[in-house]
Amino acid sequence: MRVSVVTVSDSCHAGTRTDESGPKLVELVDTSQKVNATVNVGSPTVVPDDVTAIQEALLENCKNSDVIITTGGTGFSKRDVTPEATLEIVERRCSGLEIAMHTASMRITPMAALSRAIIGIRGSTLIINMPGSVKAVKECWEAVEPVLNHAIALLKDADDGTEHQKMMKK
Ligand code: MTE
Repeated sequence: MRVSVVTVSDSCHAGTRTDESGPKLVELVDTSQKVNATVNVGSPTVVPDDVTAIQEALLENCKNSDVIITTGGTGFSKRDVTPEATLEIVERRCSGLEIAMHTASMRITPMAALSRAIIGIRGSTLIINMPGSVKAVKECWEAVEPVLNHAIALLKDADDGTEHQKMMKK
């Protein structure tokens, strides 16, 4: 599974703040025991909170990624436009995954209700929005991690050896 990470942040892009959530995501993916993943970009792509810049990064990463995880820009401030940018790029919305991520997050903090993160599919790439903090990406990653192998196997029509897939192939 090829995973890429896009950090969405005006201040990280301008170099006035150090990107911490992007590298944390790379580490979480790389060290996952549940996901057979390679992060196919050495470090996260960092873009400003700008719809066009976000969409360009998503489209570029779609060319060689099975999963793109964005971090940041999902909140209520005027510059938070990651969900709007993502919605125009995805073709199919994954409401189950969105609910799973939000429900798990809400169990940890009521502040999770302030994220408008969306998850969807473009072609055979799964795009996942996550909030922009180290704490949030760790919590959100733990929520989606258990289903990623199977999700990507289904998207690529590959066999991941699960009972569900064996049953579907009968
Ligand atoms: N989700 C989880 N799991 N853990 C968190 O700490 N923080 C929330 C929310 N989602 C949080 C979370 C907060 S405080 C905000 S403001 C929103 O994500 C939006 O964050 P963003 O604008 O950095 O994307």
